[in-house]
Amino acid sequence: MIVTIDGPAGVGKSSAARALAVRLGVEFLDTGAMYRAVALAVLRAGVSTTDEPHVAELLEGLRLEMAPGGRVLLNGEEVNGQIRTPEVTAASSVVAEFGPVRAFLAARQRKIAEGRHMVCEGRDQGTVVFPNAACKFFLTAAPEERARRRQVELAARGVCVDLATLLAQQAERDERDANRAIAPLRPAEDSVRIDSTRLTKEQVVEQMEDEVRRRAKASGR
Ligand code: DC
Repeated sequence: MIVTIDGPAGVGKSSAARALAVRLGVEFLDTGAMYRAVALAVLRAGVSTTDEPHVAELLEGLRLEMAPGGRVLLNGEEVNGQIRTPEVTAASSVVAEFGPVRAFLAARQRKIAEGRHMVCEGRDQGTVVFPNAACKFFLTAAPEERARRRQVELAARGVCVDLATLLAQQAERDERDANRAIAPLRPAEDSVRIDSTRLTKEQVVEQMEDEVRRRAKASGR
């Protein structure tokens, strides 16, 4: 059984997906981390993020593993810290526009999920990668609220950024994610839409779990 959670940057998809996966007793896949790992590899190789042919070439020698416990391994090295820097964050939404990158990662995501029960989180999980998912969610929240949550998250890591800067960076990423030619961010037609602006993380996860269990029961799983 595959459950997908898609939505814009900073909406809390990862923490909701992780918590939902724990409640359901299944694995969780953070596909944004995969785009981030590709971006890190591109930056490390000194390749321009806008140079599609070279980025595509680099994919051929790339060893990307999503290990248990959410560990991201790039050529054998754990890079969970390095993929969260502002530089990699910005580069990830640029390389995510390229067809070869999307095809490479979508194939990898399907392979990882093959024959397993998983909660998969990203931008295109319900629309492109797993169109037959048992349950699809599209999570939204007001831009100001998303930026505020991001500010709190960064502050917890000792990084202070003003809200206006975060809002501007977020708007730029939203714009690129929603308007790219391939697999743009949009809700799958059969997705359950949840606006989390005035909900706690627990309330969001609760709604999701209820929906998944209701469907599983209805389909006799
Ligand atoms: O969810 P995130 O912020 O970690 O994702 C980083 C970038 O990767 C984001 O700007 C868009 C891209 N992405 C994507 O295009 N498709 C996905 N399924 C996941 C992420």
